[in-house]
Amino acid sequence: MDNNINNNGKKIVLSGIQPSGDLNIGTYFGALKNWVKLQNDYINYFCIVDMHAITVRQDPSVLRRRTLEVAAGYIACGLDPEKCALFVQSHVPAHAQLAWVLNCYAMFGELSRMTQFKEKSEQHSDNINAGLFTYPVLQAADILIYNAHLVPVGADQKQHLELSRDIAVRFNSVYGDVFTVPEPYISKEKSAKICSLQEPAKKMSKSDKNVNATVLLFDKKDDIIKKFKRAVTDSDTAVRFAEGKDGVNNLMTIYSCATGKSYDEIEREFSGKGYGDFKLAVGEAVADALMPIQKKFGELMSDRTELEKILKDGAQRASRRADRTLAKVYKKIGFLQI
Ligand code: TYM
Repeated sequence: MDNNINNNGKKIVLSGIQPSGDLNIGTYFGALKNWVKLQNDYINYFCIVDMHAITVRQDPSVLRRRTLEVAAGYIACGLDPEKCALFVQSHVPAHAQLAWVLNCYAMFGELSRMTQFKEKSEQHSDNINAGLFTYPVLQAADILIYNAHLVPVGADQKQHLELSRDIAVRFNSVYGDVFTVPEPYISKEKSAKICSLQEPAKKMSKSDKNVNATVLLFDKKDDIIKKFKRAVTDSDTAVRFAEGKDGVNNLMTIYSCATGKSYDEIEREFSGKGYGDFKLAVGEAVADALMPIQKKFGELMSDRTELEKILKDGAQRASRRADRTLAKVYKKIGFLQI
């Protein structure tokens, strides 16, 4: 019997977002929206992974501000602090403590193969620090410390999830069933990878320097519409989902996420119309979908005391479970208990 399932038969979900840039519609449609859907059926842990963010240089005051903004973003997007422990990763020291242990069960070779490490090493060639290299081990610790069953993420995190599973299996094979082996939850829909509006073969990224490439969760309606008008498409004119039409495919995916319409419905809606009409409709639909989130975000950011209370409570709830796992791990590996 899995002793991490509670009396109501609920399993555990964990996920996190780095406060390394402003939240955008990629993070929202690819991850956060799924978390909101899952929250009623699971025991939920959602963190803001500030320790991961410092693998790239951060301005301390900006990092502090963004950490709070991501927390407010979680709630504004629909996470309920009563149903979910919402917390900051560095407020639960057991993550870092377990990460050190797991570093001794992760192999140099497997970490060297991580695509994100290779990409970030190229982007930050002046700062290829050890934290960037062991980043996925800290991510494994985030997950395994709660014995999470399910980890809802976008498609780009699949490799890190596989590594977390490998580390769990390796550890369990030495010490018995200590960790639950987590399953990734990656939406089967195209929203698992929302792409850049300027380079539609690439993922929309928080750290993109081109402001027209990403739509931020807190962009104004006019800016959202402008960004979609400038979105890169192709020389065809028909709105249809097809091979080689990355830009249009991406816009159709975003429109589908914002309206709930299927690709067939979208093709019918814009049959005989050009890209201009379509881009305007996508911009308006996204702005409308974000409006209630933006309103709620504003309210939350104006009451910092309440936000801090939620994060403190979340960290306490998370620590209770995390500390239990850490104690078990320390005992298993032979750390002296006094
Ligand atoms: P991060 O902060 O880059 O992104 C947060 C979540 O959003 C998803 N995502 C996207 N999905 C679809 N399209 C996009 N354009 C897009 N951009 C981002 C990501 O897949 C992710 O689910 N390493 C993680 C953070 C992390 C974590 C964890 C996640 C740390 N510990 C434990 C899960 C469990 C990251 O960098 O996500």
